[in-house]
Amino acid sequence: MNANPKTFRVKSFGCQMNVYDGERMAELLADSGMSAAGDGDDADLVVLNTCHIREKAAEKAYSDIGRLRREDGSRPLIALAGCVAQAEAAEAKARSPMIDIVVGPQAYHRLPEMVAAAESGRRLVDTDMPALSKFDALPARRRASPSAFLTVQEGCDKFCTYCVVPYTRGAEISRPAGDILAEARALVDAGAVELVLLGQNVNAWAGGLDRLIRALSTIDGLERIRYTTSHPADMSDALIAAHGEVDKLMPYLHLPVQSGSDRMLRAMNRSHSVESYLRTIEKARAARPDIAISGDFIVGFPGETEADFEATLQIVDAVRYASAYSFKYSARPGTPAAAMEDQISPEIMDERLQRLHLRIAEHQLAFNRSTIGRDTAILVERKGRRPGQMIGKSPWLQSVHVEAAAKPGTMLAVTLTAAGPNSMSGAVHAAVAA
Ligand code: 5AD
Ligand code: SF4
Repeated sequence: MNANPKTFRVKSFGCQMNVYDGERMAELLADSGMSAAGDGDDADLVVLNTCHIREKAAEKAYSDIGRLRREDGSRPLIALAGCVAQAEAAEAKARSPMIDIVVGPQAYHRLPEMVAAAESGRRLVDTDMPALSKFDALPARRRASPSAFLTVQEGCDKFCTYCVVPYTRGAEISRPAGDILAEARALVDAGAVELVLLGQNVNAWAGGLDRLIRALSTIDGLERIRYTTSHPADMSDALIAAHGEVDKLMPYLHLPVQSGSDRMLRAMNRSHSVESYLRTIEKARAARPDIAISGDFIVGFPGETEADFEATLQIVDAVRYASAYSFKYSARPGTPAAAMEDQISPEIMDERLQRLHLRIAEHQLAFNRSTIGRDTAILVERKGRRPGQMIGKSPWLQSVHVEAAAKPGTMLAVTLTAAGPNSMSGAVHAAVAA
């Protein structure tokens, strides 16, 4: 272990909220006098910001720890952060003696003092969940990518029977509007052109997410607003209306449905039905006809029959998703579904996942093709593989390849010219904003 660490590396896994948390931890460590290790350099402190949502993600944390031992037998100071840290707390240290610090998602602000204490050989665990104090204790934002994440809500009170989030992220908490607006302005001043509002149940934000979006839309220099992830039961008419009225709100809605079978939705405790979900999608399309719909699916939930699964394929066809993520059900310790009878065999899950992937891919390609010929804008984010090529995002969150000498953060006026399964090509007209 490395006493008195001077350099650090934060590695984030899992969802966008972890990416956001990882950025904040890096800022905090930099503020406490450490510096980020260069690419490929050894770091004195490694923070593994982990995900617990499925077993594979959680196991990855432990296999990564093993790989941190260096050839000469030494190792960095190791902090386990994120949802595995929250779920396993002190047990994590029992499983892997290489872990020096265990810090849960609500205790990040204490990381520098824990690092200092760990230097004196103490092993530390902090998985307390004090409401919001971490945001108050984190330094102000000074750096931002063109598309920056901004956490507005954390935690979940829904208790879907498969999900660990209510246990790892705790009860729903909304950050105050004033704090969010101040952070948003700081991010825009630091170069953000787009803000992605984050929350495990972002559309349950206590002040009304539509009102927050309208307030954010008045910030000069901010061109685009997105939000994720929404729960179908909290998709208010006011938020749907905002999609038709706020120009800066992008025509994209990630609305996980998980299954197309009402029987499964009840077993999952989803608090929406196939019908109510489809009605919400219809309303969103009425408000904003070009809106791209995205979703999440779980295949092989306990008790799922072939008929239930076929109902899932049907809802994919009914919604015509522009993109969607699908996962094999993973039993998580402590969740009600883990104790249910009729767990589905891995072979059946594999087979269903494949069929679902194919169906989603068909709709994704069809959606991309339907956008060919549109005159639109892209937000340039990074270099492409070929020299002179840049990649930006369309309003519908498609990756668009263009030939242009434009820096990340530039908005370009383009015509979409060709569609692939996962990306588009565009022809540039002009830069629409610096
Ligand atoms: N097994 C498989 N997938 C899961 N998800 C959440 N919990 C589980 C689980 N136990 C999926 C859901 C959710 C996404 C973030 O991860 O589809 O929307
Ligand atoms: Fe994974 Fe959920 Fe934690 Fe995000 S909140 S890191 S998805 S377990």
